[in-house]
Amino acid sequence: SSVKMEKEPTRVLVTGAAGQIGYALVPMIARGLMLGPEQPVILHLLDIEPAAEALNGVKMELIDAAFPLLKDVIATTDVVEACEGVNIAIMLGGFPRKEGMERKEVMSKNISIYKAQATALELNAADNCKVLVVANPANTNALILKEFAPSIPENNITCLTMLDHNRAIAQIADKLNVHVSDVKNVIIWGNHSSTLYPDVNHATVTSTDGKKLVRELVANDHWVNKELVSRVQQRGAAIIKARKLSSALSAASAACDHVCTWVLGTKKGTWVSMGVYSDGSYGIQPGLIYSFPVTCKNGEWSIVQGLKIDEFSREKMDATEKELIEEKQVAYSCLNSSA
Ligand code: NAD
Ligand code: LMR
Repeated sequence: SSVKMEKEPTRVLVTGAAGQIGYALVPMIARGLMLGPEQPVILHLLDIEPAAEALNGVKMELIDAAFPLLKDVIATTDVVEACEGVNIAIMLGGFPRKEGMERKEVMSKNISIYKAQATALELNAADNCKVLVVANPANTNALILKEFAPSIPENNITCLTMLDHNRAIAQIADKLNVHVSDVKNVIIWGNHSSTLYPDVNHATVTSTDGKKLVRELVANDHWVNKELVSRVQQRGAAIIKARKLSSALSAASAACDHVCTWVLGTKKGTWVSMGVYSDGSYGIQPGLIYSFPVTCKNGEWSIVQGLKIDEFSREKMDATEKELIEEKQVAYSCLNSSA
């Protein structure tokens, strides 16, 4: 028929929406970059009282941009109102890392926020709400959210390592003088922190000559094992040093990529990296939120199985797992001492 039925809008919560990632992210969502050009959206924007006026300014700009897909904007400092009926929750809210701080130091400030917001989501979000935690410490905030929202399926709670994934692809593309879209199947293992491990053992570059392994094309173990690893691990700190603020446009773009891939699926033969609930795959402690290679189909992710892990990778994967186990302990000690 000539009358096109419009889809039901998807409600997307963005917490910390008055912050700098929020400012970059909300127009991407409203333009359809996260959920596709056919999917109308209603934005739920949450921030805290001191940022209420700035948050309202963001709402005014969203209105002024007259986005065809944007059906409504709810801007609020009330967490219950913000979570009401949301289908997707992007958690940016929290205290960001400043120059010279390790991500661990921001822990105590953020853990109690995530415990409280877990409850608000559990009680008010739509069934099957998908959650992406971006705020640091991202894996451990997601773990706390998962543990204090037991009725949300654990597979629905994820954290962002797509930024690290994209950073690794960008470094490889630059090194080999190829386009980023030709580099596939890098893996970020573990924590979104300076212990993360970018693994290129399975990564490929597609060109007119066919598909080749990145490791063979680079032909320089030192670059792959040392330089690339430390560049990706330290990239967040390098951005903070340069901007005096943490990454925002690249983080917003990666958050779009994460949700888009989760909802719309991965292309055949390719995977991405996401911080997800460990089921014990690759010997990683069950229950941790750990970054794995995943494929996505029908709105569900699954961990890529059966990849060969060499001794070098094993050590790096274990080291970042160990850090997550320690963070979990610190998180619980923060919660107990604030209780
Ligand atoms: P920002 O400080 O500009 O914004 C954070 C916002 O959260 C502020 O507006 C603040 O008022 C708000 N906020 C604080 N407590 C809140 C609460 N309880 N509820 C709702 N909102 C609250 O920070 P940013 O640069 O936008 O970064 C956001 C987070 O993302 C930081 O934790 C940062 O470290 C993290 N980050 C993660 C990645 C990643 O790849 N995982 C990348 C970049 C940044
Ligand atoms: C990033 O990776 O850019 C962010 O997590 C900011 C940080 O703390 O490094």
